[in-house]
Amino acid sequence: MRLSVIGCGYLGAVHAAAMASIGHEVVGIDVDERKIASLSKGDAPFFEPGLQEILTEGIASGRLSFTTDMSAAKGAKVHFIGVGTPQQAGGYAADLTYVNAAVDGLLPYLSEGDLVAGKSTVPVGTAANLAPRVAETGATLVWNPEFLREGWAVQDTVDPDRLVAGVPSQDGHPTVEGERCADVLREVYHTAVAKDTPFIVTDYATAELVKVSANAFLATKISFINAMAEIAEVTGADVTTLADAIGHDARIGRKFLGAGIGFGGGCLPKDIRAFSARAEELGKGESVAFLREIDAINLRRRDRAVDLTVTALGGTAYDKNITVLGAAFKPHSDDIRDSPALDVAVRLHGLGANVTVTDPAAIENARRIHPQLTYVEDRDQALTGADAVIVVTEWDEWRRELDPAHAATLVTGKIVVDGRNCLDATAWRNAGFTYHGMGRP
Ligand code: UDX
Repeated sequence: MRLSVIGCGYLGAVHAAAMASIGHEVVGIDVDERKIASLSKGDAPFFEPGLQEILTEGIASGRLSFTTDMSAAKGAKVHFIGVGTPQQAGGYAADLTYVNAAVDGLLPYLSEGDLVAGKSTVPVGTAANLAPRVAETGATLVWNPEFLREGWAVQDTVDPDRLVAGVPSQDGHPTVEGERCADVLREVYHTAVAKDTPFIVTDYATAELVKVSANAFLATKISFINAMAEIAEVTGADVTTLADAIGHDARIGRKFLGAGIGFGGGCLPKDIRAFSARAEELGKGESVAFLREIDAINLRRRDRAVDLTVTALGGTAYDKNITVLGAAFKPHSDDIRDSPALDVAVRLHGLGANVTVTDPAAIENARRIHPQLTYVEDRDQALTGADAVIVVTEWDEWRRELDPAHAATLVTGKIVVDGRNCLDATAWRNAGFTYHGMGRP
């Protein structure tokens, strides 16, 4: 099938390449000339495992191309909208400028029977607002949210846990046109459908809400366990054992109960804020008032990591050499958007510490935004002469591959703060370190 993908950022670039990898003919369209030039050469503009390979293959096969020219969308049967919905400057609500511009730019190139499939994360009600504009061209709008995780984006796109199609509906049921749209999307995702991946056909509002409520739930799980970490810290309990124990209950589950410096990235923080803002607009602010608390707990954990480090250093970070292991908001990513790791590094620098940051993928991005910090590519060089080491992103480079006995030969002050509770505390203690976890004695 011929497809177009409007917006070639994280979501769009992965979607375009992944759709080409399952046999579709795809054109990716973006206004950013540099991004398009890079993608057209087959160069992934960001670090994402597996993306480089499917980009190269797609371009070599002739099925995948990129352009800044919106008219290239003409002739595609499904047009995916994968542009960003950032947090509005000075507020919590989502900024829909890019979604509106993408849809308006696409309108002249739509034909009777085409589908416009929104993938961006939007406030509930957006699809209903956009649908009449699309319908005027003879095309139909569907909402097909994306649940990809960075670091697993290719796998999540090709082999998702579930597919959700928000289609034109009446009285809670898809219309005839809605059913046709769902069938077209089934054809698009033919490999997942063949594997019996749950395919949920619903109305626009439900589809939009599935995405934001999934992210709200994930954020809630993380902040819940971080709240327990706060209680553990004043009672001498160990939050990691607590998480294991409650996680054995199948109704709770162990995933997303990793206590530490909390969540960041381009999705969870902005999405829960946008959800709060939208609920307020709908007069239902109190229904999701807890999300403000989720956000507050999350931000407190960064303060806690800074405090732990300062206390471990004897009450001041001033002029101390602190090695920060990590910059990306999570491992297997070079993304530093709202990264708790960098926030902690910047705060320690603000307290007068000499902060050295190392990260396997995110140094270039971090240096651009926070040039005041010192960046070192080599992990051992970064560790040499440190008064304290703080782990803020759980990369295998230090979680699994750093022998604490080796670290002890490089680090001057034997202090390790494990902001992700990812190290083997006993091994670090045995190597002579004072180990400080998050919510652990
Ligand atoms: C998230 C959702 O998982 C995904 O479904 C959605 O489409 C986009 O947002 P992503 O931002 O890639 O994906 O990251 P995710 O793996 O969810 O992690 C988010 C943050 O939570 C990271 O900063 C991570 O370090 C943190 N986290 C995760 C924890 O602090 N503890 C955990 O137990 C799990």
